Amino acid sequence: MSPRGLEPITAKDVPETGLEAQIREVLKPFAGQRDQVIPALQRIQERLGYVPEAAAREVSRLLGVSPNFVYGVVSFYGDLRAKPHGQHAVRVCTGPACHVRGALRLLRAVEGHLGVPVGGTTPDGQYFLETVSCLGTCANAPALAVDTEPVGLVAPEQVDQALARGRPETAPMHRGGRSEG
Ligand code: FES
Repeated sequence: MSPRGLEPITAKDVPETGLEAQIREVLKPFAGQRDQVIPALQRIQERLGYVPEAAAREVSRLLGVSPNFVYGVVSFYGDLRAKPHGQHAVRVCTGPACHVRGALRLLRAVEGHLGVPVGGTTPDGQYFLETVSCLGTCANAPALAVDTEPVGLVAPEQVDQALARGRPETAPMHRGGRSEG
């Protein structure tokens, strides 16, 4: 097992004071570098999994840019998150191949199953829901993935099984089991 210090740290892993210490440590090399806002925010997200408001404030203070500019960068860049990421990312494909084969019905079913909209994290912190434009398994559309495990041919009523099968700690299964046609 890798040393604790090298593992990604999520907000719930550390108390608030620990979080603030992590933020200060990560941002230290960026002090005074006004043109390094994006790399600084990316470094925070790599470490914490998202950009907490405290980090955005610290970026503003330490780099000498306005808080509004930092908040704007966080909301503009799709790969930066202002909220904690769930333990597992559920990624529903809404690309063309999946769209024509019922991706939106599947997405609604996943939202209903998890009880959160796209961009939301379940209250237990297990799942974060997002959409993607292709999972590279168009022949098995509609598809979703749990983290990096794609599950194809998922009917809306099969969401429960698909999420279980996509979980890394369970046996991987790449097809939801719905017959073609
Ligand atoms: S469009 Fe959905 S997997 Fe390619």
